[in-house]
Amino acid sequence: MPGDVSAWVLQDWAANAATPKGRAITVLFRLAQLAGRSELPRPVRVATTTALRVVLELVFRVELPWRLEVGPGLRVFHGTGLVVHEQVRLGAGCVLRHATSIGLAHTDDLDGAPTLGDEVVVGTQVVILGPVTIGDRAIVGAGSVVVDDVAPDTVVGGNPARYLRDRRPGDS
Ligand SMILES: CC(C)(COP(=O)(O)OP(=O)(O)OC[C@H]1O[C@@H](n2cnc3c(N)ncnc32)[C@H](O)[C@@H]1OP(=O)(O)O)[C@@H](O)C(=O)NCCC(=O)NCCS
Repeated sequence: MPGDVSAWVLQDWAANAATPKGRAITVLFRLAQLAGRSELPRPVRVATTTALRVVLELVFRVELPWRLEVGPGLRVFHGTGLVVHEQVRLGAGCVLRHATSIGLAHTDDLDGAPTLGDEVVVGTQVVILGPVTIGDRAIVGAGSVVVDDVAPDTVVGGNPARYLRDRRPGDS
């Protein structure tokens, strides 16, 4: 279990200052991680992670499994319809929005989840599929379908997503 419980649960709090909904979603997600990774008796662990998942899914319509590895400072804007497979890895300071799926290209392809680096910004209505790597500070434009790696510090968009330009200071 992470050492400092409140620091763990609130690790995304400041990043979501502009969005109370993002704060609620990330706190519930971090609580679920805390419970899932704890040494509580299994029935208690399962009941707690399930209850938190039900709240996240039914109230916010967000699927962020507790097994997901996510660096600190995750920002969630809107969130409704956000689905992330539990094998996806997200670096620190990423931005996720609504109506977005990040997961496997094939149902049973268990080594096939995307990896997002630090400070990656994902627009709304994005699909990122398969064992692709999205480099640090890349921006994925709204409505994109990403099936190839994305270089760090670049902006991509479209279906399939293509390079649009380099990321500029102040882009978010
Ligand atoms: C990708 C993005 C960051 C680019 O921003 P930008 O650089 O200001 O984009 P511009 O409007 O100057 O367009 C630059 C080029 O990229 C293209 N482009 C922009 N966004 C695109 C997208 N999402 N998908 C595909 N192409 C896109 C434009 O058509 C334009 O192409 P052209 O040079 O051939 O005319 C932005 O359009 C975007 O999608 N942001 C996501 C934000 C979001 O999801 N907000 C949701 C709020 S609820």
